[in-house]
Amino acid sequence: MQVICAATGEGHIYSTICWLLVIILLVIKLFLIFVLEYDLRIMENKPFIFGVAASGDNFTDREKETERLLLNFRHGVNTILISPRRWGKTSLVQKVCRLAQSDKLKVVYLDIFSCRSDKDFCDAFAVAVLKQTSSKLEEWLENVKLFLSRISPRISMSTDPMADFSISLEMNPKDDDVDEILQLPEKIAQKKGCNIVVCIDEFQQIAEFKDSKTFQKRLRSVWQLQKSVSYCLFGSKKHLMNELFEKKNLPFYKFGDTIYLQKIGTSDWVDYICSRFEVTGKHISRELAERICQIVDNHSSYVQQLAWLVWIHTDMIATEHDFEAAYQDIIDQNTPLFEKQTESLTTYQMNFLRAVLGGVHSEFTTHEVLQKYQFGSSANVSIVKRALIKKELIEVENRQVVIPDPVLKVWLKKELEM
Ligand SMILES: Nc1ncnc2c1ncn2[C@@H]1O[C@H](COP(=O)(O)OP(=O)(O)O)[C@@H](O)[C@H]1O
Ligand SMILES: [Mg+2]
Repeated sequence: MQVICAATGEGHIYSTICWLLVIILLVIKLFLIFVLEYDLRIMENKPFIFGVAASGDNFTDREKETERLLLNFRHGVNTILISPRRWGKTSLVQKVCRLAQSDKLKVVYLDIFSCRSDKDFCDAFAVAVLKQTSSKLEEWLENVKLFLSRISPRISMSTDPMADFSISLEMNPKDDDVDEILQLPEKIAQKKGCNIVVCIDEFQQIAEFKDSKTFQKRLRSVWQLQKSVSYCLFGSKKHLMNELFEKKNLPFYKFGDTIYLQKIGTSDWVDYICSRFEVTGKHISRELAERICQIVDNHSSYVQQLAWLVWIHTDMIATEHDFEAAYQDIIDQNTPLFEKQTESLTTYQMNFLRAVLGGVHSEFTTHEVLQKYQFGSSANVSIVKRALIKKELIEVENRQVVIPDPVLKVWLKKELEM
């Protein structure tokens, strides 16, 4: 910028004002750049995440489980991974998938949450295997021709074929076509001279298919003969997963290495929470970070959500007041969900929850408990219990009935005025 002024007194004043304006503009610009970049840095480096799988800097601990899964993947050992919802199965498996992926070992990942039948499953399975084992469009088209010739699938594509394509398989799930689809990864592995691991998320859905046992038998009989492919089957709804893999008379009994995923320990969480505050220019004491973990029982998703809410409330240094306000927020945010989960419960089911909250965890059919919580008959107790397990509101751990959701527990206590 050029500032021209006359050598008069007035000129001096103008020139000084001009320079002052320039300096002020510069300061404003620098300030904006700093603030914007700071915001960008925070956005890129979001301190806490929940609702999606944790990865990168947001993934903590799980070293032993990562190692064990990685070994299973590399040595072709089938794995079954079970835990309640939102403890970290998907995050863990996705991390191991990224670590294991190589030219010699291809990883296929699919989520069958929305599959309602064996036909849906076969579609999802074929698409995932074809898509994730080929790097080029031509390659997967060739594999379709080579290995699914009997089925003559109908293929539709979007404009960006590698980014998204769908394939619909016109087949009758009752005949040999199913076997052909289930053999797909083995045939591709042999053709490519590599091994394949197929990871299936929300595997408990299988138990809900019509004529599920026959389909399970089919899966197992084909899969157990495959030499180059192993499977990692994982899911929640613990009762369903347990049934699938622990019942001697069901096909998947002793299918592989069963891992019951545990919660992440407090000291790992505290390190994580404190460091996430630090990198974003805020501070939280280890004591307060520990309270975040304790109040939500180290439940992975809730720890992240509560830490995020405390972080939002915190100006520079997290206070007791920020913590209290955040805890109220987490209850408020989950209230609509809890209302939905509990609105259709019968009086007996509510009474059962009341009993668990009141400290009854096993002896539900003693005369005293039956009377106090008005369960009706002891036969009724087991019906009510089964219904609540199915609704995922209670769980049985070491023969003790518990409410696994720590925030729901607090909300229920308040609702039931206990
Ligand atoms: N290893 C981890 N480190 C940090 N947070 C995690 C981890 N695993 C899970 N979480 C938190 O829990 C949430 C649920 O994890 P997710 O893997 O989807 O659980 P699941 O598959 O068992 O339902 C994630 O969104 C994240 O907030
Ligand atoms: Mg999951």
